[in-house]
Amino acid sequence: TTIGKYGAQLTVPPAMPWVGRDTAARIDHYTIGVRQFRQQVLPTGLPATTVWGYGSVHHPASFHYPAFTINASVGQAVRVTWVNQLVDKDGAFLPHLLPVDPTVHWANPAGGESGRDSRPSFTSTPGPYTGPVPIVTHLHGGHNMQESDGYPEAWFLPTARDIPRGYARTGSFYDHFGKLFEDKFGAGWGAASAVFQYANSDRAATFWFHDHTLGITRLNVYAGMAGFYLLRGGPADLPEGVLPGPAPKLGDPPGIRYHEIPIAIQDRTFTADGELFYPPSRADFDGFAGPYVPRSDISPIWNPEFYGSTIVVNGRTWPVLPVEPRRYRCRFLNGCNARFLVLKIVTDPLAQRPARPALPLWQIGSDGGFLPSPVQLDQLLAAPAERADVIVDFSAVPVGTELYLINEGPDGPFSRGVAGTDFEAADPHTTGQIMKFVVQPLTSPDRTVPPDRLALPAFEGLGAPSNTRQVALAESRSATLPGVGPRAVLLGTLAAGRPDILGWDDPITENPKVGATEIWEIHNFTADAHPIHIHEVQFQVLDRQRTGERARPAQPWESGFKDTVIAPPDAVTRVKTQFTLAGRYVWHCHLLEHEDNEMMRPFRVD
Ligand code: C2O
Ligand code: CU
Repeated sequence: TTIGKYGAQLTVPPAMPWVGRDTAARIDHYTIGVRQFRQQVLPTGLPATTVWGYGSVHHPASFHYPAFTINASVGQAVRVTWVNQLVDKDGAFLPHLLPVDPTVHWANPAGGESGRDSRPSFTSTPGPYTGPVPIVTHLHGGHNMQESDGYPEAWFLPTARDIPRGYARTGSFYDHFGKLFEDKFGAGWGAASAVFQYANSDRAATFWFHDHTLGITRLNVYAGMAGFYLLRGGPADLPEGVLPGPAPKLGDPPGIRYHEIPIAIQDRTFTADGELFYPPSRADFDGFAGPYVPRSDISPIWNPEFYGSTIVVNGRTWPVLPVEPRRYRCRFLNGCNARFLVLKIVTDPLAQRPARPALPLWQIGSDGGFLPSPVQLDQLLAAPAERADVIVDFSAVPVGTELYLINEGPDGPFSRGVAGTDFEAADPHTTGQIMKFVVQPLTSPDRTVPPDRLALPAFEGLGAPSNTRQVALAESRSATLPGVGPRAVLLGTLAAGRPDILGWDDPITENPKVGATEIWEIHNFTADAHPIHIHEVQFQVLDRQRTGERARPAQPWESGFKDTVIAPPDAVTRVKTQFTLAGRYVWHCHLLEHEDNEMMRPFRVD
């Protein structure tokens, strides 16, 4: 079956309901569960899809993939009790929707040779994992204490009546840090839930939350565990009215026309009966569009990257958004596991690539908030996890016009620099299209400021660095690490100009001091670009330098604060950041398949 396009309207995720607001303590309380449910992701008439999604446990209708949006305000903390509700009606645990690869180092509740978070050897093929599913949520972009950060080994199982004896209920992080939760929030962590608090002390920004469980993040996120977290207010924000609005608020009546819209773009592949397909091994691709990069020299199950055949936007395949001739604020998120996107607005979705842009994209913000000034772009490059806050001005577009958001990124690894355009674009018939806009008559005047005249909030960069650190991305060609397949992509340090590759469990090598401002030089020895994300911080991208060339400054669209940076191949990417919270965090590649197979390292601030 081919999947028809542009039949369903884009879903604008409503506001996530809170359970209470403590005005004196300035804390919003939420209780957010993860459940399994069915949702019409494919066009109406095709089967519904079983997904996993977040929702407020007291509002069954709020469970959705992607999640309803958490609206946060600078100066008002958000405290979330995250609950693992992956159980059936009878209270029995639900097995994973997707094939778990037991050969990577993962959050295995049944343990393994090394106990919890086991790292079995990929040569001793264990049987398929059919047990209960661990989860833990990370607020991507947030500046939070370690016990609330969603450490990959801070996972927890649901409360279920049939969890086998001997299974661990929580990951090993709790052994070391569980006391921190108890002291802060009383009991209420560990069995089926964790209480995390987000301070919201920083700049207004587009964050997102998603699962971060060791070794199965790619599967949990693919199943649907992701949502927006929009931080507003404070001195580094602009009001609705200057910028296009409104955005969804709690208690909105139906039928509101939103002019500020978060747009999460993901690629998925579906089975003939409408279910999510994730390759169970590299050997089993028949009948499914790929490519899945089948190669014979890596572990038999894990795929180095996943590229789906279908584009899903806010939980619907190829949707349409009716727009008025006015300005819209689109908060784009690349929520794909591994696909880099190159977005462009055009009149003909099948036009020869590279296509001629029909409207500019005015980028006003990125991962960590507003840019110093708006940047006019013909196309927008976004690696997995990157966000772009963009104004699209339809004011001069005649009513009745149809425009298309297309993708000219590749159907495979991205191996170019950030200014490159010379890659083979995605299939124009499928993954080369994202969504459609249809211009309808104006219903109210647009008084927002045109993007070329918009003054963004004052931007103040970080001070002088006190330390420079060199880190490395490299492929391991020999199985130097027990349990890691050869050819996995890994992180490490740089020793005498060569990468010194380290696994997840190796001793910490990055330990900045509290308050230190550091430059991290990310040396990429691999053939592809990797989006590198550092937890706890926002950073400034300084420059990139290819071997034997002069350093080039960051692109204008990455001149604000960032938490994820594209590190192109055969180059050094330099970022500067300040570490202000003590504790244990992680930095990693945000290609989820890489992250899940050791391309992640802990760091400790003390
Ligand atoms: Cu978006 Cu460590 O993750
Ligand atoms: Cu990577």
